[in-house]
Amino acid sequence: MKKNIEKVLITETEIRNKVKELAQRLAVDYEHKSLTIISILNGSLIFLSDLIRHIPFPVKIDTIRVNTYIGDSKVPKGEADIINNISLDIKDEHVLIVDDILDTGKTLSKIVQVIKKHNPLSLKVCILLNKIARREVEIVPDYCCFEIEDKFVVGYGLDFDNKYRNLPYIAVLKEGCYNCSVK
Ligand code: IMP
Ligand code: MG
Repeated sequence: MKKNIEKVLITETEIRNKVKELAQRLAVDYEHKSLTIISILNGSLIFLSDLIRHIPFPVKIDTIRVNTYIGDSKVPKGEADIINNISLDIKDEHVLIVDDILDTGKTLSKIVQVIKKHNPLSLKVCILLNKIARREVEIVPDYCCFEIEDKFVVGYGLDFDNKYRNLPYIAVLKEGCYNCSVK
């Protein structure tokens, strides 16, 4: 896998420190509140699992799955389809949506609309990465770990063609890998 990496953008240590810092903010902001975290699958899985283990009170977890890309493309489809919806009752719950990356903003804004219909007590958005340069739909995250340049990144949950999620850091692949010549 390492031979396919062009550059490491964010190291394991940088991620670990930032995620812990973020969890400490959440611990203050949601202290004495009933918190449900909704994780957007699959990209936020690793971020979520590290984040929640630094939160010092019980939280509920639910997931939502959307379909953003066609096949192994780097280009989003435009409209995110919800494939698996949440199953917990979140009415009167404080809800935090957790995702890997905010890119055009289409996926998260759609999910925010869907979740709002369940009438949560409060609704906030938490992301690992923010790619502001590509924003098409206005959405400002309430919590964010890193702002990144306009590059397609993989690792720490983020994939290309469903692969590379298991890299422990955030990286850019060599151009040939995105063209699918190297697997
Ligand atoms: P958006 O709807 O354009 O904001 O896209 C959000 C989704 O696209 C994220 O949840 C990711 O799954 C995916 N995505 C966007 N940029 C990248 C990237 O650089 N690498 C991997 N996945 C990405
Ligand atoms: Mg995603």
